[in-house]
Amino acid sequence: MKTEILTILRENEGYVSGQQLCDKLNVSRTAVWKVIEQLKKEGYKIEAVRNKGYHLTESPDVMSQAEIESRLETEWAGNPVIYMDETDSTNIQAKKLGEAGGKHGTLVVSDRQTAGKGRRGRGWESPSGASIYMSILLRPEFLPDKAPMLTLVMALAVAEAVQEVTGEAAGIKWPNDIVLNKKKICGILTEMSAEIDYINHVVIGVGINVNTESFPEEIQKTATSLAIETGKKWKRPDLAAAVMRYFENYYNMFAEAQDLKPLQERYNRLLVNKDREIQVLEPGHEFGGTALGINETGELIVRKADGSIEEIYAGEVSV
Ligand code: BTN
Repeated sequence: MKTEILTILRENEGYVSGQQLCDKLNVSRTAVWKVIEQLKKEGYKIEAVRNKGYHLTESPDVMSQAEIESRLETEWAGNPVIYMDETDSTNIQAKKLGEAGGKHGTLVVSDRQTAGKGRRGRGWESPSGASIYMSILLRPEFLPDKAPMLTLVMALAVAEAVQEVTGEAAGIKWPNDIVLNKKKICGILTEMSAEIDYINHVVIGVGINVNTESFPEEIQKTATSLAIETGKKWKRPDLAAAVMRYFENYYNMFAEAQDLKPLQERYNRLLVNKDREIQVLEPGHEFGGTALGINETGELIVRKADGSIEEIYAGEVSV
């Protein structure tokens, strides 16, 4: 009922009477009052005025299920939201749900991870209270070889959501790091369970440094947060909901086309490597060139000094 009450209060700029809430939710006045009191305890500022009703004036920066669900404007992305104060890794939990028959679009969110996972076997620092840790479970109907492109779909969704919410020029470092002022604010880890010609499920995990104030020394040069770059704190649930809105839309476009063609131009516009000199760091195959953008399957098109073109599928590039 919390989600419903928050949604109704948010939809109304002014006051919502207790009676309206009772009628819409088919519950008693006392039940409504109890939820309002609980919400106040959680940090929501709700004015209660006799003969007028309730008015939500401020929401706390909490990643609770009700807070996220009441902000979502999607059909399937984030439906349902599963929230945990603490977990090992939202990717691990989402994969378990995948094995257990969980629904396409289920979003696992946590305030803190004790075993956060990064790409290439690395860890992901996951302290509480400041960042977004979330993983979406997907059951795509396309072939497994298309799945790596989903990471780029998510990267585009995160970059656009950050731009919309903060007004900052977030960009994408190929293939899927989101950067602001050349430093990383978000990492994405995609994992898949598949047979040779069939996807059981895909999990896309997103870690966004939102209000983090400092980073361990080893990553200080390369990592940053929205708060550090903008000098302001941001509401995590707001950003998480915006990411889901962009992702649902872009996923639908991708699933219909079965490639990145409809998103290629948007992605390339946000690509910080575009038209820049880069070093491709593939083990045993390192070379320099100019990044021209991605092709419709998400490979990075690189023009080498001798004019020849290479399209790279995997590997890391330096900006
Ligand atoms: C990277 O190395 O750039 C990818 C980092 C991905 C981190 C996120 S946080 C939420 C989800 N759960 C994890 O354990 N990892 C991803």
